[in-house]
Amino acid sequence: MSMWRIPLADVEVDEQDIEAVLDCLRSGWLTMGPRVAGFEEALSSYLGGGHVAATSSGTASLHLALLAAGVGHGDEVLVPALTFVASASTVRHVGAQPVLCDIRGPQDLNIDPQDAARRITPRTKAVIAVHFFGYPADLAALRELCDTHGLILIEDCAEAIGATVEEGPRKAGTVGDLAAFSLFSKSQLCVGEGGMVVTRDEGLDRRVRLLRSHGLTSGTWDRHRGHDPAYDVIDIGMNYRMDEPRAALGLSRLARLDEDIAARREIVRSYREQLGGLPGVEIPWGDQEVQASSHFAFAIMVRDRGARDRLRVQLADAGVQSTWYPALHRFTEYRTFTPPDGLPLASEAAERHCALPLAASMGEEEVRIVTEAVRSALNWAG
Ligand SMILES: Cc1ncc(COP(=O)(O)O)c(C=O)c1O
Repeated sequence: MSMWRIPLADVEVDEQDIEAVLDCLRSGWLTMGPRVAGFEEALSSYLGGGHVAATSSGTASLHLALLAAGVGHGDEVLVPALTFVASASTVRHVGAQPVLCDIRGPQDLNIDPQDAARRITPRTKAVIAVHFFGYPADLAALRELCDTHGLILIEDCAEAIGATVEEGPRKAGTVGDLAAFSLFSKSQLCVGEGGMVVTRDEGLDRRVRLLRSHGLTSGTWDRHRGHDPAYDVIDIGMNYRMDEPRAALGLSRLARLDEDIAARREIVRSYREQLGGLPGVEIPWGDQEVQASSHFAFAIMVRDRGARDRLRVQLADAGVQSTWYPALHRFTEYRTFTPPDGLPLASEAAERHCALPLAASMGEEEVRIVTEAVRSALNWAG
């Protein structure tokens, strides 16, 4: 399936997953219905409670969360500069301005709450806390910041399903007023394309559900069962619904999620052990934080952009796929969002990091191939 010897991600679909989807196809009901409802219930219990609305993508989930929170024209939203573009593009879709914030540094690639605090203005309405690579952002500090300034906290959990935060422990996605998850093909719980919005607030959940399906007062499944012969339209919504085959696949895969995350943690420990002491390599976050992350991918930092780019060419020659995230203000569409200080830490981390393959199915041999390739590439790249 892949041109790579070791691809960045690997989707393992087992017989149970296939049967679950076939069962759904045989049922003859494919749009949002009982399987989506069952999936939402199972996700809620996995997360330890809260309302869950399944959606068509992580981007749709962020968009819905911002709309439900009432973020709109004239508002500013604090967003880390080092993230996937959807964390900021959805802010612009609701007519608000993303205000890019710096990260903590090479040891913690997440938003720096102190930097975020400095960028608050009377127009600031919300903060998007991205849990980058599956490592939770400092939610305690961000929650306090939001409470002090009356801001809405939205967690972008696209890369962090199953990550844990604080004592307890609580799952990422349960501290913010709203959280958006992605279930796309590289995420830890992949269904192809999909997502969910999570909130403990009944009113916000009601609004998310309304906007998910055109602002209609009843769903197709309700009407199919004859519960609601008519409907009204009471808001301007979208079609961001999840369909039944994806919910069936998600429900089947959810049963293995914790096992998969445990396997990812072991692979990350092994990577850290083998690459940790290498001259010219820094590994973001500490050993003690590995257990809290759900590990979307594995990132290392090298000396500078030149070394990173040479490393990637050498990895590709060895059949090892890699990637990296440009800082948002480097994109043509986002250049005008660069603040006067130029976001130095996010800019530097973007140039220096390289994401390596990570999948629950990887064995020691695959980890060895990747680490050997990194080692010889760095010798060569200097
Ligand atoms: C941090 C972050 N936010 C949002 C998204 C968007 O999710 P989706 O691709 O499901 O729309 C992604 C996807 O990779 C992401 O990494």
